Amino acid sequence: MVTGSNRRPGIFAIRDVRSLISETTEEGHGLKKAVGATQLTAMGVGAIIGTGIFVVIGEGAGVAGPAVILSFVLAAVACAFSALSYAELASSIPVSGSAYTYTYATLGEIVAWIIGWDLILEYGVSVAAIAVGWGGNLNAFLDSAFGVALPDAIAKSPEDGGIFNLPAVFIVLAITALLVRGVTESARVNLVMVGVKLTVLLFFIVVAIVNFGTGNFQPFAPSGVDGVTSAAAIIFFAYIGFDAVSTGSEEARNPSRDLPLAIIGSLIICTVFYVLTAVGAIGIASPDQLKGSDAPLAAALEEGAGISWAASILALGAVVAITSVVLVILYGQTRIFFAMCRDGLLPQRFAKVNERYGTPARLTIGLGLLISVLAALVPLSEIVKLVNIGTLFAFVLVNIGVVILRRTRPEMPRPYRVPWSPVLPAIGVLFAVYLMSDLPLSTWIRFVVWLVLGLAIYFLYGYRHSRLRSPGAGGDGTPSWARDTTPDTPPGGPR
Ligand code: ALA
Repeated sequence: MVTGSNRRPGIFAIRDVRSLISETTEEGHGLKKAVGATQLTAMGVGAIIGTGIFVVIGEGAGVAGPAVILSFVLAAVACAFSALSYAELASSIPVSGSAYTYTYATLGEIVAWIIGWDLILEYGVSVAAIAVGWGGNLNAFLDSAFGVALPDAIAKSPEDGGIFNLPAVFIVLAITALLVRGVTESARVNLVMVGVKLTVLLFFIVVAIVNFGTGNFQPFAPSGVDGVTSAAAIIFFAYIGFDAVSTGSEEARNPSRDLPLAIIGSLIICTVFYVLTAVGAIGIASPDQLKGSDAPLAAALEEGAGISWAASILALGAVVAITSVVLVILYGQTRIFFAMCRDGLLPQRFAKVNERYGTPARLTIGLGLLISVLAALVPLSEIVKLVNIGTLFAFVLVNIGVVILRRTRPEMPRPYRVPWSPVLPAIGVLFAVYLMSDLPLSTWIRFVVWLVLGLAIYFLYGYRHSRLRSPGAGGDGTPSWARDTTPDTPPGGPR
């Protein structure tokens, strides 16, 4: 159905879902369909479990006290509603780009651009920050296991007293090389790392249970409900990543079944691990001990339970865990960028798939280099909150997108449907806005500045170069927004 709003390609022009899907098979632009359900779920877990549980839990415990356990539950519930919406859109529109693409098909180009730009914050900027966390944990491990550590000058950003963060640059470039090599190989490596990090968290939980005490649980919520929600707005970072599964939907072998399974499955797995880990951490260490450390779980074992060998294992586990987060989040970033370039909102020449590897190699290398520069110099502070606000904003638009698409394209095949729409998507919006409102004003200001910068780029470049405004780009001389009026073929072929 062509709606009134897309008769002319203004800033609210909508991409047609069918043409979006058909473009995925165009010569030179088609990604290899190589990823199955287990790998997709592992991709979700790979993106989710990392800095949040290994590092940010300390800040959460400082804000909420032992009630940080409830903050983990609250953040998970907030994510669950949006996860359902992601699952519906990912299974109906299995095209690279995640929330960016869904918004293009529902709310129009300018909103899609805003969300794409916003996702650069969620993915690109956070990769730099996560890489810095990786470097810090590597150093902590080297120090605790072998008594050697890299000097600050080459292990910290200028703001933290160094010159250049070598480990952070190293990990970004190493993962970039892996992603260029191919998504099958990347997913395989990821699977191994996910196994390692679940084992390490399980190890932590078991050690914590053996040494468990109830002394640290009083007072349970020293800062009351406010403390719990404020901590949830920070802890939310720990859950970011389940949406990364949807960025790879174009490469899924059976998107209609596997995407909802992977998105919801990875969120459930991580929630169970997080809540148990948080209970275990408070069982062996006080919130103050957790708060004061850069590696709170390792500190809980060392200072709380007095087992330093276990702390070394934990630090190593954190390094592996964060490696897979860098892998999946960087992967997501390249796919979102790929979709934006393919649509002409960013230079189209970057949306080329390398013939040998079947991956967008040039784009991946370019982004890897850019992010590694950021990782060399970026300070970690504030980035978590900035990434959170950007991600929550994406959740708001994805939930709204589900409701709008149900109205504008009721006939479109939806292999997975959010139950009780629009009620559940509306609750998803409310939760996201609620957590956003708990973030500080300074975060809001940075976020608005970022969006304004994005809008300037859109009007200077994207608006003019958009595929919607270049007849012939779709191959038949007709802009794709005006082309399609026939019913969609279900993703993954006729059913
Ligand atoms: N959820 C991811 C992490 O905690 C971003 O590192």
